[in-house]
Amino acid sequence: MEFRMADAHDMGRVAALADRVFRPDRPRHMADVFPHLYARQNAHHWCIAEEAGHVISIVGAMVWTVILGGASVVVASVGSVATDERYRRQGISTRLLSLAAASLRDEGAHLMLISGERPLYLRFGARPIGLVEWYALPKAFVPSRAFEIRAVDPIRDSAAVARLYRCRSTRFVRPLPLLEVLLRQQPLTEVEEGKSAAFLAYERGVAVSYASVIHRPSCGRKASQLAEWAGDPNGVLDGLTRLPDWRDSGMTIPVLPEEGDLRGALAPLRPVRQTSFPWLAKIIDGVGLGRDLEAVWAELSAHPPRIEETGPDRYRVTRGEEAWEVDAATLTRMVFAHDVRERSTSLDDVWPSPAPWPAGLNFI
Ligand SMILES: CC(C)(COP(=O)(O)OP(=O)(O)OC[C@H]1O[C@@H](n2cnc3c(N)ncnc32)[C@H](O)[C@@H]1OP(=O)(O)O)[C@@H](O)C(=O)NCCC(=O)NCCS
Repeated sequence: MEFRMADAHDMGRVAALADRVFRPDRPRHMADVFPHLYARQNAHHWCIAEEAGHVISIVGAMVWTVILGGASVVVASVGSVATDERYRRQGISTRLLSLAAASLRDEGAHLMLISGERPLYLRFGARPIGLVEWYALPKAFVPSRAFEIRAVDPIRDSAAVARLYRCRSTRFVRPLPLLEVLLRQQPLTEVEEGKSAAFLAYERGVAVSYASVIHRPSCGRKASQLAEWAGDPNGVLDGLTRLPDWRDSGMTIPVLPEEGDLRGALAPLRPVRQTSFPWLAKIIDGVGLGRDLEAVWAELSAHPPRIEETGPDRYRVTRGEEAWEVDAATLTRMVFAHDVRERSTSLDDVWPSPAPWPAGLNFI
C-alpha cells in the first residue's frame, strides 16, 4: 500500500471514493458541493492511500488564510476523511492524518481545522475549541427596525458582501472570484426547494448587512441556521424574520463571545445552549502561530507568551517567570479553548484568542 500526496490525475478516483462513502444515495456529487476542495488545482493538498491502482483512503484539505482578531494565520481546513469500507480499522486514516499534518506544515499552515468530532481525530491531537451560544429565534421576533431586504445576486452583489464581510476582525480571506463561486455553488443562496436564503439589508439605499442561512438536512427541508453574517445585526434579524418556511423550533443563531452587538440585538432572548465549535482544531506549527499572533498578544498583555518547540508536537510556553511543557493538543486548548483547566489564570488576558467562527468550515 502506498501513502502519498495526490496529484491532479488522482482527483477523479478521489471524488469517486468520496461519493461512494458520503453520498451513496444523494444526487449531488461531493465535487459539486465543495468545488474548491475537489478542484484539480487543489490535488496537492489531498493525502491518499493507494493499493493496486485503487484509491482506498483519502484526507482532503484546503489551505488558506484566516484573519484571527486582525492577525493573518495560514490554516488548513480538513474534511472528506474516508476509507473504503473493506479497509477500515487498520490505521490507514491515522497514518494519512499524520502525513497530512507534516505536508501542510511544510507548506506553511500553522493550524488544522477538522470537521467532525471523532475519536480518530482526538487521538491525532485535535481538540474542541471556541465557545458558541446558540439562540433559537422565534418567527414572531420583532426586530428593532425595518430594513429593505433583497436576495443576494451571486454576481452583482458579491462585492457588497465582500466589503461587509471584511469588517469582521475574525474571518476567512476570500478573494472575490472565490466568493462568487461560493455564492453560486454552495448552499449559501438556496436552501432546498430553491428558497432564497442569502440576503442583503439596505438602509437609505446603502447595504448595511448581509446574511446567509444554511439548510441542515437533519432538521427537515427548511431554512434552519444562520450560517454567516456581517454588518448591522438588526438588519440580519429583520431579514431572517422575513424568510419563508421556518421550522417550528425557530431559526438557530450561533453567537460568539466577541459578537456583543448581535447578542444585544437578540435581547431579551437568552441562549438555549452553549457548546464548543462543531469542529476540532490542532496547532501543527506552534512557533509559527505564536509569531502570527505576536502583535495581538502584545496589544493585550504586558507579558505576552512565547512558544518554543521542544520536539515533535511538543512545546514550551513561557510567560514572565511561568513556564509550561505541553503537547500540541494542550497548546491548542491553551490558545483557543474557553474552559481550559490546564493553564494558569495568568494567561486569561491573552488567551483564548478569537477563533474562526463556527460555520467557517462550510465554505471549503
Ligand atoms: C472514519 C474513517 C475515515 C476511519 O478510517 P480508518 O482507516 O478505518 O481509520 P483508522 O483505522 O485509522 O482508525 C479507525 C479506528 O480503527 C481502530 N484501529 C486502527 N488500527 C486498528 C487495528 N489494527 N485493529 C483494530 N482496530 C484498529 C482505531 O483505533 C480507530 O478507532 P477509534 O476511531 O475508535 O479511535 C472511516 O471509518 C470512514 O470512512 N467512515 C465513513 C466516513 C466518515 O464518517 N468520515 C469522517 C467524516 S467526519
